[in-house]
Amino acid sequence: MLLDVQDLRVERSVTGAQGERGFEPALAGVSFRVVKGRILGLVGEHGAGKSLAASAILGLLRPEARLVGGRALFEGQDLLRMSEADLTRVRGARIGFVVQSGHATLDPNTRVGAQLVRAQSIHRPIVKAEAAWRAETIMSSMGIPEPRLRAQAWPHELTPGIVQRVVIGLALINEPQLLIADEPTAGLDITTQVQILDLLHLEVRRRRIGGIIITRDLGVVAQYCDDIAVMYAGQVVEQGPVGQVFTRPAHPLTRAMIADAPERLALAGRRVGGPVAEPADGCAYRARCPDATDRCLVAPPLVGAGVHAARCHFARIAAA
Ligand SMILES: Nc1ncnc2c1ncn2[C@@H]1O[C@H](COP(=O)(O)OP(=O)(O)O)[C@@H](O)[C@H]1O
Ligand SMILES: [Mg+2]
Repeated sequence: MLLDVQDLRVERSVTGAQGERGFEPALAGVSFRVVKGRILGLVGEHGAGKSLAASAILGLLRPEARLVGGRALFEGQDLLRMSEADLTRVRGARIGFVVQSGHATLDPNTRVGAQLVRAQSIHRPIVKAEAAWRAETIMSSMGIPEPRLRAQAWPHELTPGIVQRVVIGLALINEPQLLIADEPTAGLDITTQVQILDLLHLEVRRRRIGGIIITRDLGVVAQYCDDIAVMYAGQVVEQGPVGQVFTRPAHPLTRAMIADAPERLALAGRRVGGPVAEPADGCAYRARCPDATDRCLVAPPLVGAGVHAARCHFARIAAA
């Protein structure tokens, strides 16, 4: 087991009608696992808590959010209980992270080659010439043509597709065991999207590391992921191997997503604009669920058989 996230709980601060400050749950006990050599698709609508989950694991919560419980065992060590100094050593070295809107992580005032050199120097003493050679090598394996020339470029001189390849190169240059990519193709044209996803997939396989692709697009999960965890309102509502979940989806949300993907997902993302959990009791999906009954006023547990599980009273999951 590469990464074992158990019962991750995060709250965020809210201001009430009278200006009083309080906290409400933003992640209500999220659990998922990543196995070496496999890619987990973390999927859900805008605002479901996907980025929040990744940030919490990596110790990147903004001040308005606070960790209240759970474990995130990475190679057996709990990331949630690591010192900031130890976490800094893990981030960018043993875990590569392509943040949402990753292009913003490039320093506009530094040539891309120098940024790839700097990413190495943060984690170990380097010999400049060797680090520069490694920078060019990774650019080349990221499919960037003429890497020596491109290493001298400023970020604004590159196309969005090349920028994203550099960002992925930055995440991989220290040879991590786990690569997390948060909506890595947002804002790219369709052709470039496919190229970037092909690249991510190939690198995880070739390096025999673990991967997490965060996406709103079930089509991406179908094509590139081995396992899936569907998130809704700060919870994982269904998880399992992609083949099993796609052929026998057990949660009404998963069924709805499969029935209407991908058009409806894209629309929902644009329209809803993403509230997280309405602080309601019972099943968070109740208000939108075609199958809801009075039973759903009580929050459903995660029920399942083996690796396939769903958070629904009516889920019937047969052992594979
Ligand atoms: N790093 C973070 N620190 C604090 N709050 C965050 C962080 N990332 C996301 N959030 C908040 O978590 C909630 C869920 O959003 P998010 O995780 O971004 O949804 P998704 O990625 O599924 O679209 C939002 O209120 C968002 O502002
Ligand atoms: Mg996000």
